[in-house]
Amino acid sequence: MAIAVVYATMTGNTKQVADALAAAVGVTAQNLADAPEVTADTVAVGYWVDKGLPNEDAAKFLRTLHGKRVFLFGTLGASPATPHAADCRKAARELVAADNTVIGEFLCQGAIAPALLAMFEKFPADHPHAPTPESRARWAAAASHPDADDLAAAVAAWQAALQ
Ligand SMILES: Cc1cc2nc3c(=O)[nH]c(=O)nc-3n(C[C@H](O)[C@H](O)[C@H](O)COP(=O)(O)O)c2cc1C
Repeated sequence: MAIAVVYATMTGNTKQVADALAAAVGVTAQNLADAPEVTADTVAVGYWVDKGLPNEDAAKFLRTLHGKRVFLFGTLGASPATPHAADCRKAARELVAADNTVIGEFLCQGAIAPALLAMFEKFPADHPHAPTPESRARWAAAASHPDADDLAAAVAAWQAALQ
């Protein structure tokens, strides 16, 4: 069974998860920015969440897949237990054409880029992303992710999907 692991990343969080999944099956993770040619029948596809959706490059790649076994994984700033994260997972599944089989999925928190946080800090108080004590706590919670537990959970989900 041929397996490929591909990912999109802006600040490296999703690459960390991709590298863990790839190492678990003895392959090298490929960055979608390098336009890899993917012939494997089982493909793990990693995305980062951009405004509630899988980022555009990963979304574009997911739409090209046909007849594959697809494992979806990603990182986002919010907790994976939130309705927002559930919506993101659903959005990712909806990008996969019906002639593929989604064999599993995994989403974990990833540190939010300092430049984005600096931008949020400048928003006026009535802006939806203006900092609040709650949002600052969420950003701080994301800062240490993905951590070793996230990577282990990702590999466990991946191995279960491959059974
Ligand atoms: C432009 C932008 C938009 C983002 N939108 C969201 C979002 O809607 N929800 C969320 O939880 N995190 C959001 N994030 C946080 C990223 O999804 C998170 O930090 C992710 O781990 C980045 O992955 P990467 O390091 O692989 O690029 C956003 C980050 C950026 C830079």
